[in-house]
Amino acid sequence: MPIIDVQHLRKTFVTSVRKEGRLGTLRSLIRPERREMVAVEDISFSIEQGESVAYLGPNGAGKSTTIKMLTGILEPSEGRIEVAGRVPHLNRKLSAYQIGVVFGQRSQLLFDLPVNDSYELFRYMYSIPWDRYRANLKAFAEVLEVEHLLKRTVRTLSLGQRMRCEILASLLHEPDILFLDEPTIGLDVVAKERIRAFIEQINREKGITLLLTTHDMQDIERLCQRTMIIDKGQLIYDGSLQRIREHYATERQIRVTYEEPWLAEAAALLFSDQQVKARVEERMLTLSYDQHAADTSDLLQTLITHTKPRDLTMQDENIDALISRIYREGLTHGEPPSRPEAQLEGAVR
Ligand SMILES: Nc1ncnc2c1ncn2[C@@H]1O[C@H](COP(=O)(O)OP(=O)(O)O)[C@@H](O)[C@H]1O
Ligand SMILES: [Mg+2]
Repeated sequence: MPIIDVQHLRKTFVTSVRKEGRLGTLRSLIRPERREMVAVEDISFSIEQGESVAYLGPNGAGKSTTIKMLTGILEPSEGRIEVAGRVPHLNRKLSAYQIGVVFGQRSQLLFDLPVNDSYELFRYMYSIPWDRYRANLKAFAEVLEVEHLLKRTVRTLSLGQRMRCEILASLLHEPDILFLDEPTIGLDVVAKERIRAFIEQINREKGITLLLTTHDMQDIERLCQRTMIIDKGQLIYDGSLQRIREHYATERQIRVTYEEPWLAEAAALLFSDQQVKARVEERMLTLSYDQHAADTSDLLQTLITHTKPRDLTMQDENIDALISRIYREGLTHGEPPSRPEAQLEGAVR
């Protein structure tokens, strides 16, 4: 049985539109014009226990709204949600015991108090027995390297320090599922890496189910076996990152460095009549080609048999660029599919 099951989820917000000018303001007050906006159009998916899933999409796609519905903060307009066997917004309190949630842009710690005080508040709210609380706090604080921060006032922490404390807070009650909404946003490389390593560890060792939104491709590569992409409130892809790569990352580059520039020039001649673009710059030869048109192992074979490379690296189109291409172009190149989710074979569960 899936631990998260979402069927035809929809969320609309009704906002009042304010007219321009003084008269407009007055009119808006007397008879406000209401407009319905669709944040989540129609989304279905299920997640098994222990899975680690990236939930991706451009700004405004509906990611945070989905997470708020999954955690019971918002009530769906239509559709069905079950998280750990419960309907989150109807059982908010009970659901909370099984769910941890971190919003990168919002703090659950009390800003003017020491970190420890917030933790004790959570201990009380979740009725965590003292011994479990102490054991969890000690273990997580050690791995997240926040022991020295516990007595500090939250507002004096750096963003990276605070984020580690936030994540700890979300885990004190040992939830089965952790929702992370942009946990690495605004962090430097080192801080990101620390958080990733920790999240990876709790997923692996404790089997915690993860749903993560992020704009950082390294987060996904490191943490998520499965990727869901939404756009305008609809799921447009559900499958592995690898499959996206195979389908879309058609461009690949091989960079070869030689001892001397003339060796690079000579090597380039080997590729003059193929589907490969060869460019020489000093001692470096760069081969660019469409992976569906030329075979990587053939090219490597040619390079190694006929030339003496000093160094060789390979690079695929950046996944970030690739995903924004998917947003723009849809799932096929050109023609939009009638059932977008069915485009990639076996992509939809
Ligand atoms: N409380 C709200 N009231 C009105 N509109 C909202 C509210 N929350 C989100 N929206 C709108 O819903 C859409 C989806 O927002 P959100 O889920 O935050 O996107 P994402 O997290 O993918 O960037 C956006 O157009 C946003 O402006
Ligand atoms: Mg968001």
